[in-house]
Amino acid sequence: MQTAWEYRFAHRIQKMGSSVIRELLKLTEQPDIISFAGGLPAPEVFPVQEFKQACDYVLEHFGAQALQYSTTEGYRPLREMIARHTSRYSVPIVTENILITSGSQQALDLIGRLFINRGDFIALESPTYLGALQAWNAYGAQYIPVPADEDGMIVDELEHALRMGAKFIYVLPNFQNPSGATMSLERRKKLVEIADRYGVPIIEDDPYGQLRYEGEHIPSVVALDSAYRGYAEECYSGNVIYLSTFSKLLAPGLRLAWVVAPEQVIRKLVNAKQAADLHTSSFNQYVAYEVAKGGFLDEHVNVIRATYRERRDVMMEMMTEMFPSGVRWTHPKGGMFLWGVLPEELDAAEVLKTAIERKVAFVPGAAFHPNGGGDNTMRLNFSYSSPDSIREGITRLGTTLKEILKKNGSARAAGG
Ligand SMILES: Cc1ncc(COP(=O)(O)O)c(C=O)c1O
Repeated sequence: MQTAWEYRFAHRIQKMGSSVIRELLKLTEQPDIISFAGGLPAPEVFPVQEFKQACDYVLEHFGAQALQYSTTEGYRPLREMIARHTSRYSVPIVTENILITSGSQQALDLIGRLFINRGDFIALESPTYLGALQAWNAYGAQYIPVPADEDGMIVDELEHALRMGAKFIYVLPNFQNPSGATMSLERRKKLVEIADRYGVPIIEDDPYGQLRYEGEHIPSVVALDSAYRGYAEECYSGNVIYLSTFSKLLAPGLRLAWVVAPEQVIRKLVNAKQAADLHTSSFNQYVAYEVAKGGFLDEHVNVIRATYRERRDVMMEMMTEMFPSGVRWTHPKGGMFLWGVLPEELDAAEVLKTAIERKVAFVPGAAFHPNGGGDNTMRLNFSYSSPDSIREGITRLGTTLKEILKKNGSARAAGG
């Protein structure tokens, strides 16, 4: 039944309905379930002591400023530190190229406000990050999915989307959420070249770039764009808007992230952010700066890498041991996710219902496909659960899959 409220909501709210999958995922929050569904960092690696000391220090030395309203752009020393860090990767970044946001999720929303008119097309990998779709659905975006494989977006297939008039290209080049794939250097270079030729900007979303467990670092798209332009710039003024976050390096509860973009774009994003929340928490910015200055992040990221590498390896070993033949999965070189492909005839949402009865959960992959498809795919998170829980959870999931496949096989045999 439609209530009076339903008629009062703005048109853009219509696409914000709760999905069947979200309803299913609520069931995964029961305490005895081993959940590979969320995208949570391991709480064991949060640097609680360092935060405690930094909070004391900030309150003692900068108490009044840290508790006061602040500028929309963000705490200047923090922006300077990010600019220095980004410049290490050969991108000429100055403080004016940086905006601090309340999580990268806010940056995605602000980008939607800035660029998307109702009905605009966005070219993106399929599958892609669900949070971006949620943010941009509200602005009436339409999507042109570009196929992807273990080397990321198949850039050769991008031109079709650009000829259709895509407003921007959204890519997650490192250890993609949800697929775990990493875009090859060759494809990154080609992406920069094609985007420049068609005059279409690139949004590079990179929360996991530092979390590499094997192989060589590949330059970011923003760094390659800067090199492609070739001229000696003092500050970045290219074709890429780059997003990263402290959520995976320090703690997601901080809600602290940053955008790197040409100054002209930063100024517009600042206007949009002013309307949204005035500024990101001053106190959190001061504290994060105190924790991160002096090189702590470089040490800490090694602890995170060692912890997640072990968990990834345990998950892959257990899948090899426990999963029935016919199930395939990716080998992510970093990040927090592994992507499974079930035999065609299985619907991962149906599998999840049985898995929840067996007290194990994952996210069915269909949700990450903006224009449908992917019913037989699944995302598994390996960063949050302990190695023992991963062993137990993958054993339960493997048993569930074998049972379902056996039942389907018997039903088929009985049916003729
Ligand atoms: C690809 C991607 N972009 C953005 C975000 C949002 O990050 P934040 O916690 O900074 O809002 C996430 C979070 O998981 C993500 O995976």
